[in-house]
Amino acid sequence: MVKQRKIYCKEGIFIKIYIKKDYEQLSEKAATIIAELVKEKPNCVLGLATGSTPIGTYKRLIQMHKNEGLDFSQVKTFNLDEYYGLGFDEEKSYSEDQSYARFMYEELFKHINVKPENTHIPNGKAKDCESFCREYEELIKNLGGIDLQVLGLGGDGHFAFNEPGSSLGSRTRKIALTEQTLDDNYEAFYKDAGFTREQMPHFAITMGIGTILESKNLLMLVNGEKKAKITAKALEGPITASVTASSIQLFSGKAYVILDELAASELERYDYYKHIEKMEEKYS
Ligand code: GLP
Repeated sequence: MVKQRKIYCKEGIFIKIYIKKDYEQLSEKAATIIAELVKEKPNCVLGLATGSTPIGTYKRLIQMHKNEGLDFSQVKTFNLDEYYGLGFDEEKSYSEDQSYARFMYEELFKHINVKPENTHIPNGKAKDCESFCREYEELIKNLGGIDLQVLGLGGDGHFAFNEPGSSLGSRTRKIALTEQTLDDNYEAFYKDAGFTREQMPHFAITMGIGTILESKNLLMLVNGEKKAKITAKALEGPITASVTASSIQLFSGKAYVILDELAASELERYDYYKHIEKMEEKYS
């Protein structure tokens, strides 16, 4: 009998698309990939994302820390973005409620043993924004680069806050948010907190697409029917600055893409991705 070779090589460059039954399974798979890295390289540099999508993954990582002793004591983190004008309030020594700094503290950092001095989030309150952005890039490089960058997908196809039209080589910088992003993020994070849409920040500081593509590995997560069309555009459409997440197709490391069935429902090569996943389970 001919011995089947693994159809999928663990080393090298690839985009590996996993289609999971639901959000829970998506979160489990994503947390497993992150945990494997943390165990293999305890002082790894993790790139983290905000938004509703990674919350389940962070919950699972917290469980792994509490129940299985997953150790974050040497891990360093860099977040993708922050709203301009928000962040850590030096005077009050606390991260403002609607900031991504606050989000990360509440959803992950306060529950695990990561050292606060090892966590990095763009400072939306930096007095000299340009210098801050340059220093953020330098710090990433000085710490050896990002080993694994977690990414969600914006409704307008953005990675981080790289809105349509951002250069695919862009670096960390201040950016104006699109109307669609303002609408999406107002609904998700500002409305219930009693803000008017006008009151929410209209600018952000974001890692650039060029910065993101320098990570060693990517972990893109998308769930829900609402994102099905834009997911297909990002993964199978033309590489274009109009959908900055399509830049993943240019990535020169390992990119894991984990979708739930709903987000995957518009993919042209859906059957092929499922086939690869089955073959991988069978032969690995
Ligand atoms: C914001 C963040 C992105 C995130 C996106 C999707 O715009 N800047 O990094 O990917 O929201 O958010 P959600 O996961 O809530 O759909």
